[in-house]
Amino acid sequence: MRLIRQCYHSAVLLNSIGFITFDKLVWNRSKQWFCEPFTFRTFQKLSGLAMMEIKENSENAGLFCPNPAVRGMVNLDRDAFSKTIQVPVLKIRKEIINKVMKTLKHKLIHRPHLKRIGDDPKDDSIKNVMLDPFIVTSEDSFDDRDREIFKQLDISPQVLQVDLQLTYENFKTDEILEAVLPKGQDVTSSFSRVGHIAHMNLRDHQLPYKNLIGQVILDKNPGLTSVVNKTNIIDSTYRNFQMEVLAGEENMMTKVKENGFTYEFDFSKVYWNSRLATEHDRIAGFLKNGDVVFDVFAGVGPFAIPAARRNCIVYANDLNPESYKWLVHNCKLNKVDKKVQAFNTDGREFIRTVVKEELSKYIKAFSTERKHRLHVVMNLPALALEFLDTFRHLLPEEPHSEVVLPTVHCYGFSKDDNPEKEVKDRAEEMLGTTLKNYSIHLVRKVAPNKEMMCISFELPAEVLFGTQTNNEGEPVSKRPRTDKACSVDSEAQV
Ligand SMILES: C[S@@+](CC[C@H](N)C(=O)[O-])C[C@H]1O[C@@H](n2cnc3c(N)ncnc32)[C@H](O)[C@@H]1O
Repeated sequence: MRLIRQCYHSAVLLNSIGFITFDKLVWNRSKQWFCEPFTFRTFQKLSGLAMMEIKENSENAGLFCPNPAVRGMVNLDRDAFSKTIQVPVLKIRKEIINKVMKTLKHKLIHRPHLKRIGDDPKDDSIKNVMLDPFIVTSEDSFDDRDREIFKQLDISPQVLQVDLQLTYENFKTDEILEAVLPKGQDVTSSFSRVGHIAHMNLRDHQLPYKNLIGQVILDKNPGLTSVVNKTNIIDSTYRNFQMEVLAGEENMMTKVKENGFTYEFDFSKVYWNSRLATEHDRIAGFLKNGDVVFDVFAGVGPFAIPAARRNCIVYANDLNPESYKWLVHNCKLNKVDKKVQAFNTDGREFIRTVVKEELSKYIKAFSTERKHRLHVVMNLPALALEFLDTFRHLLPEEPHSEVVLPTVHCYGFSKDDNPEKEVKDRAEEMLGTTLKNYSIHLVRKVAPNKEMMCISFELPAEVLFGTQTNNEGEPVSKRPRTDKACSVDSEAQV
């Protein structure tokens, strides 16, 4: 360490001897180089160790941070972010500029919207190439390969330091938010994209800056027209979040592409989660031409439409009239409307009426041919497992031994240490049986201690068929339908 310091101090001393007066090149806001008198230093060769110290220099670490005066800003003032830094520059003859740019690719400065080649104010035949101040601190920063190229091209690798004004456009989203929000607080600027809408989930400490955050996200992501924040208030019936527009247009009508399908909907009125694309595709992968699919909580169609495209016969339901409207619309949009029958009712009602009637029909037909399969998709993770009891003795007729049974794909959230077991236990409890043919899939981590799981199982014949009896062996009436709207916590929609 002592040796490092000695090298460093000797290098600094040598540098201080090398100070001379020169013109300085300045890259101004109208993206022009201009010349000003200034003092520049020729760099002496520093030892590698001393270079490391310079690189770790804390002043350098903040080089690409915006002007510190923006801390605490609530209304976005883009001009206030500007600041001037010093960057290394090489003077290169015009005719070899492309070759040099290629060779020095990894040593060039990388900043959003920053031109790295500038005209020389004094000499038309010269271009100034801006280098990364973290990588190039002196001529010593070039390796043998660079030197060889410099030699071949007859370039003097003299590094000049010039002033560069960085503006709002040249900073990245995180750099801007880190400079504005209170020091040390998490500035996560992630969002999910739903067509032209950015959907954020801001934390409490970010709320005072919500409009500024929204505007920065809008500025930095071409193609976005609105930034919304989901509020914790959730529509208790239809699971769509209430949301607040932070920046941009109020219009929430949007169009998304997922797995090659197009969906249109009003994002403020229905459920959509771009993070489920893989899961929608996974389930579609189980489906074969001629299979029958019942989608109990269909939303705007991301399971139903791919299923119909695979030539399945689809029965899709959603309680939300807006979801139903867009489900019907999207079936037409994707040209599968002939294959999908849409319903707008409660999931239990759908199972007790449509599913019951159609299952009975298809089980008979499929059990003879044994070519096609039956699937039930239940994606309402906060509640779907609780709907499973609706399948108990849904069909009164006695099955024959070779019967084709439906496969149920039911989603559930779990905060348990063993989510697989917990989800299976809950499914078994609602079905009143022990599952034998089942698989459990982790769909996604919703929060650090919360998983979204999918249990797929063959609905056991003893659950689906027969009449439910009480302890005395007498038939019991089915559980009455609860009209109570099911309420879920906000995370249920994530
Ligand atoms: C988590 S979303 C899933 C939507 C779609 N399957 C998807 O993967 O994007 C759950 C859907 O269930 C609907 N829903 C909520 N409660 C319902 C109920 N009791 N019966 C039928 N649909 C319901 C909501 O309107 C919502 O569209």
